Amino acid sequence: MYYPQEILEEVRLRNDIVEVIKGYLPLKKKGSSYFGLCPFHNENTPSFSVSADKQLYYCFGCGAAGNVISFIMQMENCDFVEAVQKLADRAGITLPKADYSPETAKKEKLKTRLYELHSAAGLFFYQKLHSPEGLKALEYVNKRKISVPIQRKFGIGFAPNSRNELFEHLKEKGFTLEEILESGLVLENKSKNGYHDRFYNRLMFPIFDIQGRCIGFGGRIMESGEPKYLNSPETIIFNKKRNLYGLNLARAERKKEIIIVEGYMDMITIYQAGYRNVAASLGTAFTAEHALLLKKFVSDVILVFDSDSAGEKAALRAIPILTDAGLRVKVLQVPDGKDPDEYIKHNGSLEFGKLILNAVSYMDFQIKCARKKYSMDDSEQKMLFTREAAGLISNLSSPIERDMYIKKVSDDTGISKQAVEEEIFDTDKKRDIEFNREASKQKIRKYDTNNKQLLPNLNDAKGVLQAQNSIISICSTKKEICRRIMEILKPEELRDETRSKLLQYVYDCYLAGKDIVPADAVNLFDNEESQKITASVFSVKTDYDDTEEIEKAVNENIKLIKRANLDYIASNAKTIEEIQKALDMKKKLENFELQL
Ligand code: UTP
Ligand code: MN
Repeated sequence: MYYPQEILEEVRLRNDIVEVIKGYLPLKKKGSSYFGLCPFHNENTPSFSVSADKQLYYCFGCGAAGNVISFIMQMENCDFVEAVQKLADRAGITLPKADYSPETAKKEKLKTRLYELHSAAGLFFYQKLHSPEGLKALEYVNKRKISVPIQRKFGIGFAPNSRNELFEHLKEKGFTLEEILESGLVLENKSKNGYHDRFYNRLMFPIFDIQGRCIGFGGRIMESGEPKYLNSPETIIFNKKRNLYGLNLARAERKKEIIIVEGYMDMITIYQAGYRNVAASLGTAFTAEHALLLKKFVSDVILVFDSDSAGEKAALRAIPILTDAGLRVKVLQVPDGKDPDEYIKHNGSLEFGKLILNAVSYMDFQIKCARKKYSMDDSEQKMLFTREAAGLISNLSSPIERDMYIKKVSDDTGISKQAVEEEIFDTDKKRDIEFNREASKQKIRKYDTNNKQLLPNLNDAKGVLQAQNSIISICSTKKEICRRIMEILKPEELRDETRSKLLQYVYDCYLAGKDIVPADAVNLFDNEESQKITASVFSVKTDYDDTEEIEKAVNENIKLIKRANLDYIASNAKTIEEIQKALDMKKKLENFELQL
């Protein structure tokens, strides 16, 4: 942890969670809690609760949970340290210098320097565009009809046609060679006798992260030549899989829907046309990380791709990634072989707006793409198409949606609705079998490896993690039972880093006679996943009617935990004796009975 616990407590106490969250979404008081629409998933009835006494939030719908710091991390898509900084600023607290390990401190310092370096480089390019050297480039920008305010907003610049002008400039500004090379904007010559700029004689598009910091550049060649766009390489501040061009601007629009395009110019033109909720992928394929990033801000995505086959392929690839993340997806193929930029220039903003309104659901698009591969005059081909379409439709969970598409395919092919339904039913069955096979394979693999986590989180098949949650929760509310459990269950036995740390925390509080403060327990961790587990463990009440019921639950859960631990020990044992010992203990466990 980078800051001492007292500081984190101070930051947390001075930022009331209800007040902070109210700055992002409306909350209504109901009993001792506040409720609102969850900002982390799409919903119509409020299941997002904020507890003023516990200073925690918890969503009954999607399981998002945490304290005020985790809320900022999730909402602002920033890391723990940044979230603490934001909240400290909000409350007017001056933070002490973070207590980093020397390595982390070095890395953090380098990151800060790289942000500074990129903003210096951005300014350099911008000034070059507006100097005599940049005249031709400026003409090009005007030819592409980017208005002056938009040029400014996007910080468009020009990399001069010289070997190392940027390099010299950055050195002059006080950046070290290490920092400059780390940015990827300057490269060492092949003959190792000096350095040269990566970008020269290109129109420069700064790339900003979600918080508006410049993290890289895309440079377009202005005459013919290859590559058309040259991008910054990945660095410690630039991860293409986690950033989208223009998302910092799109997000500010606070719309539930976002338009996703492929190119820098397409993004800018659409933005300029007044559809400001738009972002572009950065010359890489769409990733699951992109989808999760979008999920934080929107519920709907409109994929806008060129109408060529490459565009179609890219859309088909992106669809399952987006739908898997729970986003609703529509697809818009720009007609007449144009890309969005060309379309808007030829037909105007209004016509483009109509295209957006008429975007089709991804399922229609997928079926249409499949349809193109087959000839409907041939019965064999017709059957193959129906089978492929059935496979697609089987991905839908809503019976209404399924029915709609079944009808469409049946109308299209003349094959009866019932036959199409049966085909889908078969696909469902096959998938179930496949799924179970995979799941059991995975379980075996997980037990084999030396994984710190005994069971995969998502796949808590035996309920061990659930049992651990329940024990931690009981210990945190019932002191007397905590004392008894402490004698027989060691935190290490939990075999799950987060939960074993939590149990230790609960024990420590008990021993020191201190109250358990769930919102501070969240700060034991700096990753979202562990924070979420912590908040949910302390949010979900385990109310039992009587001692007998608690006793039963405690015994069952402890047995489950201990058994899983012994299985783990046995499967990781290096000697026969170790295995034997674990098995003996497992045997003894059968007669284990804790009387409360
Ligand atoms: P396109 O070649 O379709 O370019 O590449 P474009 O967006 O229409 O560009 P303009 O309108 O001619 O200026 C689509 C996107 O693919 C990436 C870029 O992100 C580009 O915007 N790309 C393309 C590269 O990264 N490198 C390349 O060499 C080409
Ligand atoms: Mn284009």
